[in-house]
Parts: sequence; C-alpha cells; structure tokens
Amino acid sequence: MDGWQDIGDANLLAPGEHQVVELPGYSVLVVNLQGEYYAVENICPHDGGELGEGLIEQDTVTCPRHGACFSLKNGEVLAPPAFEDLRCFQVRLDAGRLLLAEQPEEGWG
Ligand code: FES
Repeated sequence: MDGWQDIGDANLLAPGEHQVVELPGYSVLVVNLQGEYYAVENICPHDGGELGEGLIEQDTVTCPRHGACFSLKNGEVLAPPAFEDLRCFQVRLDAGRLLLAEQPEEGWG
C-alpha cells in the first residue's frame, strides 16, 4: 500500500466498536477507543488467532484462541502465550473518512 488508504466512513465506527479491514497482505483490526482510533494487525503472532473475534476491554484485546493479551494502543504483548508485539498502523480522520497507513519505519510488503 502506498500512503494513506481510505477504509470508510468514520461514523460507522462508534466509540467502543471495532472492525476488521482487509488490505493487501494484511488483516487489520481497527478500534474506536472513546473517540480515538487505533489499528493493529488482526492476526495473533502466537498461532494465527483472529483478534477481531477476541474480547476487547478498555484498551486491550484478548486472543480468542489461547488468551494472549495485547495493547490496542501500541500493540505490546501483555500476556502469554504470545511473546511478539502486534504490528501497528496509523489511523487518521480526514473529512469524516478513516484513513489507514503503515507505520513509517515498517515496509508494507
Ligand atoms: S493464537 Fe493467539 S494466543 Fe494462541
């Protein structure tokens, strides 16, 4: 992906809600945490669990497969059995649209 990608109307992702966005090479979990948008890789680095199907509480997500827990704000792994952090993506609002981009230091693939 080059630059920012429009992933939809921001009004469709209310505070407390989340959605999974499929992009070339990535499945991304986008969340609205009290009006702040965050995006992390949707696939658990432990064994491929889909985090969008996990439990989202406050600013964390728990993998539905074996219970690893991650920060939604920075992708940090907070509980095993996963040991790798999640890849994070940038999210911003532009004229009511949600835009997603890779982190500058990481290649999109
Ligand atoms: S696949 Fe996520 S904890 Fe095992």
